[in-house]
Amino acid sequence: MTIKENHLYIGSFKASDLAKRYGTPVIIYDEEEIKKQIEAFIKYFKSNKYQTHIVYASKAYLSPYICQLIDDYQMEIDVVSLGDLYLVESSGFPLSKVLFHGNNKSLAELEYAVSHKVGILVVDNYDELMTIMELAEKYQTVVNTMFRINPGIEASTHEYIQTSLLSSKFGESIFDEETIDKVMKLYEKNHLVHLLGFHAHIGSQIVSEKPFIASAKTLIEFTKKIQDQYNYKLSAVNLGGGFGIKYLDSDEECDLSHTLPKMIESIDELINEYELSISDIYIEPGRSIVGKAGFTLYQAGIIKRTYGGKNFLFVDGGMTDNIRPALYQAKYTVKIVDKMEDEPILKVDVVGKCCESGDIVSKDVMIPMVSKGDYVGVFVTGAYGYAMASNYNGALKPPVIFVSNDKIKVVSRKESVKDLMKLY
Ligand code: LLP
Repeated sequence: MTIKENHLYIGSFKASDLAKRYGTPVIIYDEEEIKKQIEAFIKYFKSNKYQTHIVYASKAYLSPYICQLIDDYQMEIDVVSLGDLYLVESSGFPLSKVLFHGNNKSLAELEYAVSHKVGILVVDNYDELMTIMELAEKYQTVVNTMFRINPGIEASTHEYIQTSLLSSKFGESIFDEETIDKVMKLYEKNHLVHLLGFHAHIGSQIVSEKPFIASAKTLIEFTKKIQDQYNYKLSAVNLGGGFGIKYLDSDEECDLSHTLPKMIESIDELINEYELSISDIYIEPGRSIVGKAGFTLYQAGIIKRTYGGKNFLFVDGGMTDNIRPALYQAKYTVKIVDKMEDEPILKVDVVGKCCESGDIVSKDVMIPMVSKGDYVGVFVTGAYGYAMASNYNGALKPPVIFVSNDKIKVVSRKESVKDLMKLY
């Protein structure tokens, strides 16, 4: 993204021209930024002692086009539902390179995954493991699994995206020896369902390297303990995702060029120390791959100056295309895309059009003089924005376009009012 003569450009396109061409709201991804992030993961998360796997956590943003992009880099994808699986498979992405997560997968989901030979099932609990074993028997097929554990590591992030507190709903605690014992006894007896190793995801939007290293240490120590105790050879460790990004200039972010080599360094030391023969280490970044590449354009309505003294800038989208401010008090940078260098003179809350006071795009934003019809850009909306979009209040999902230098690809069209009737 660049600024030329007061206008914002994405690749070689003026942002406001894209708004005119595709309507607003519109979600625009800078494909080059996605590639840059992927290439940083590939460059900094590698080792000559084991194979590193960068699994794209598709819950951050999923479409057939992103599946192709991930496939071009020969990466893997993680999914969390039958819907995700179906989309990924329909995009032509090989299911053998898919990891299937979820704390409460339905029988239908598990059956689909087993019968369609999904690469790795990440098992959440004992009960699910039994079901998978029944299905492996039914289809007479080998199923590769990882088992999700909760290492009890607190990552400082919003409570809704912390996943590793002792009271979290995900996985089984490493301190719950009775359950782990039951799980391992099932694996020991079963010759179709293999345990490759353990998985942990400690939370999302983590900016410090420390929790990642602490989690790697706990997982590897746990791997050693279980391998010795049950004489069960484990070949993989999956450290999950969670690498935090900068939303505001004042935010910190997880520096991949520093954090990833540090993780590799401590994984290497631990594997050596415990004399483990781990052949595969996985991470699952989502937000850090697509977050910064995404950008949302709205059109301004009026500025309402309330009797109570607060000013609102209305835009033609909001919580239906980005629920993060309402759900996690997330903050975003907002600019008027044809007035990039104008003096900010007014403090406003940028708000959407839903019948909800929580329908906020960004609070307390300083903006220049704005007129109705100006285009309003919100930065860093690429992760968990469109993915969490809804039809609340009859909102239509915006189109998603990918820009790569001077090329444009409409990845998904704008929803129409007719689409809203398709279920009835
Ligand atoms: N792996 C697992 C098992 C996960 O549960 C998640 C995210 C990831 C990987 C990817 O995490 P990331 O690298 O994107 O931080 N909607 C929330 C985020 C929820 C994250 C859920 N799990 C938000 O908008 O902040």
